Amino acid sequence: MSIAVLAGDGIGKEVVPAAIACVDAALARHGSRVDWVDYDWGSDLYLKTGRMMPVDGIETLARHEAIFLGAVGLPEIPDTETLWGLLIPIRREFRQYINLRPIRALDGVPSPVAGGDDIDVVLVRENNEGEYSEIGGRSYRGRPEEEAIQVNVFTRHGIERVARYAVGLAESRGGRLTSATKSNGIIHTMPFWDEVVAEAAAAAPGVALESILIDALAARLVLDPGRFDVIVASNLFGDILSDLAGAIAGSIGVAPSANLNPERQFPSLFEPVHGSAPDIAGRGVANPIGAIWTGALMLDHLGHTAAADDLTTAFRAVTKAGVRTADLGGTATTDQVSAAIVAELAR
Ligand code: NAD
Ligand code: IPM
Ligand code: MN
Repeated sequence: MSIAVLAGDGIGKEVVPAAIACVDAALARHGSRVDWVDYDWGSDLYLKTGRMMPVDGIETLARHEAIFLGAVGLPEIPDTETLWGLLIPIRREFRQYINLRPIRALDGVPSPVAGGDDIDVVLVRENNEGEYSEIGGRSYRGRPEEEAIQVNVFTRHGIERVARYAVGLAESRGGRLTSATKSNGIIHTMPFWDEVVAEAAAAAPGVALESILIDALAARLVLDPGRFDVIVASNLFGDILSDLAGAIAGSIGVAPSANLNPERQFPSLFEPVHGSAPDIAGRGVANPIGAIWTGALMLDHLGHTAAADDLTTAFRAVTKAGVRTADLGGTATTDQVSAAIVAELAR
């Protein structure tokens, strides 16, 4: 199996090698391996060539079984260039319409909120449409009539497929599905979202659906994190809830994500939830757990389930044993955390 590696920018370059070492160690326990193929795409390439990836970048990635990404974004380049030049085209061209973001508390990592140690949620984020549409633009720059317009695109097909996926996941877990909505506003999209999600949930008698307004949901996640099981959300709502839930679990540095093309027509993309963290980049102190956990999601997706389970057990044990980076109150470096997990897997 061949994995395309896009370490990208900032701490992406630090957490990706740390995660690869752990994934390799987990596979080695089962006599397996994968081929990692590095692509030095991202902001450095942009500064040299004006492009985040080569013109045939998508075709190149299509030849791999999966894509493993660190993060993209540099303070000196507008995010619109870096994100629309690499991350967003990958998600869209490869129809990765599910962004799966599990959030579970780790032993030894205190939550900043009461009850946060009980959090065990899977966030199912719509990943191809919604508020992240290409339609809109800016005009009259610098003039008094300057304006920016963003058109939200919600299709029945788009809502149905993410809702069905979330319903299926809820059926395989605790049977509780929460849908993030905003149908009390004057926006047209959310009543439509509610209807289609309700239809999908009605097809599964074992699933109890609750739709909660996004503002109230944000508050309830903080006040009572243990009550949630599967949350389905639109692209932007899911983006915001994933950092919130990650912080409740202790740090956004531990949060993993899988951008899935469930039909497996195209490679799926695996990346931690966090970004390039320019404020700590280059110091070797970034938490690699988000990227390592992401590696476990990738192994699972590729059918290496035993290696995925071993990797998960190992990083949880190492965190519990107190080998933690500064965001979790520890003093370990990125490489020390990774080395401890590799050692745990070699036992
Ligand atoms: P960020 O996630 O990079 O950082 C937010 C805060 O969390 C920072 O204080 C950072 O130090 C901390 N943090 C993040 N990851 C951490 C880790 N692994 N260990 C310890 N601390 C960690 O978000 P931001 O600062 O809003 O964005 C920075 C850049 O990253 C921007 O250009 C943004 O567009 C980009 N970004 C990219 C992705 C991606 O590539 N998938 C995701 C989010 C943000
Ligand atoms: C994420 C990130 C991206 C998103 C940005 C960098 C475009 O925040 O993966 O959560 O909003 O999807
Ligand atoms: Mn985000």
